[in-house]
Amino acid sequence: MKLLAAVLSLSFLVSTTTLAQTAPDYDALIKQAHQKYKNNNDGKVADYIPALATYSPQNFAITIATVDGKIYQTGDVKKAFPMESLSKVFTMALAMEQHGPKEVLDKLGANATGLPFNSGLAVELTKGAPENPLVNAGAMSTVSLVEAKDKTDRWNKILNNLNAWADASLTVNEPVFKSEMDTNQHNQALAQLMESYNSFYGDTREAVEIYTRQCSVDVTTEQLAKMGAVLANNGKSPYTGKQLLNEKYVPQVLAEMAIAGLYDGSGKWLYTVGLPAKSGVGGGMVAVVPGKYAIAVYSPPLDSAGNSVRAQQTIEYVAQATQSNLFLAK
Ligand code: DON
Repeated sequence: MKLLAAVLSLSFLVSTTTLAQTAPDYDALIKQAHQKYKNNNDGKVADYIPALATYSPQNFAITIATVDGKIYQTGDVKKAFPMESLSKVFTMALAMEQHGPKEVLDKLGANATGLPFNSGLAVELTKGAPENPLVNAGAMSTVSLVEAKDKTDRWNKILNNLNAWADASLTVNEPVFKSEMDTNQHNQALAQLMESYNSFYGDTREAVEIYTRQCSVDVTTEQLAKMGAVLANNGKSPYTGKQLLNEKYVPQVLAEMAIAGLYDGSGKWLYTVGLPAKSGVGGGMVAVVPGKYAIAVYSPPLDSAGNSVRAQQTIEYVAQATQSNLFLAK
């Protein structure tokens, strides 16, 4: 008996020591990344939406949210920024929850376009199929697919969904919304082009406006990391305990992110980092390590595909240090 107890306590000691050795020091890693990349001034703040051009290129924040509910953060973590394309992931998840992954695949697709995120050529080449829910065309079509009684109900469902994922009461950045509404003729044209091919599932004006509104919702990196942590945790928020997406659908949401989360930069990203991720032209980006953590970074200067330069560098650094590439045998 005594021998058994000794063996058990020894194995407990060994396993806790091993755990302590292997648990990554997230706090140190994000601070190292912040230090390493904060003076990199590559990239350009988006200005095709005039209100976005007013954000400082210096803003830089990093948050990691783990599946066991811990938060690690550094930098300008109090600064909120518009979600822009990041919002597309969570409205796609809502549409998937309502209609299931088969309908999302049939109506919105799961293919890279290989073209910029607002390409009209991409829609024309496929005779209206948006190819995936993360390019502008597919994201507006997704909004039209959300089941709702009317326009107000559609917006409330989308905002309530974002709130539930972020564990927060998010608000629309009205100056950004107005600026984007004044300059979204290209998106209106994309929606009408899809409608002309019967690839739109509601009123185009209503969907474009609600899409624009969801893009203008402000978040912090903490809120965004918590949203990503829901995906890392099989669709259940580690913070509220609520199941926000059927756990069976989580791989499909992550697959769409891997396919098109960084638009025409998605292939290179998957090749070098090996994680599903999503960017927004406001400078935010989130990546998901299933079963472990999500990392959100905010830094406005973008590369030519519209993805934050420092966010990509930071996530690559942390992903490598934590051996998080999904294609590595673990
Ligand atoms: O529709 C647009 O162009 C913007 N509201 C969102 C685009 C975006 O964030 C693309 N991201 N990298």
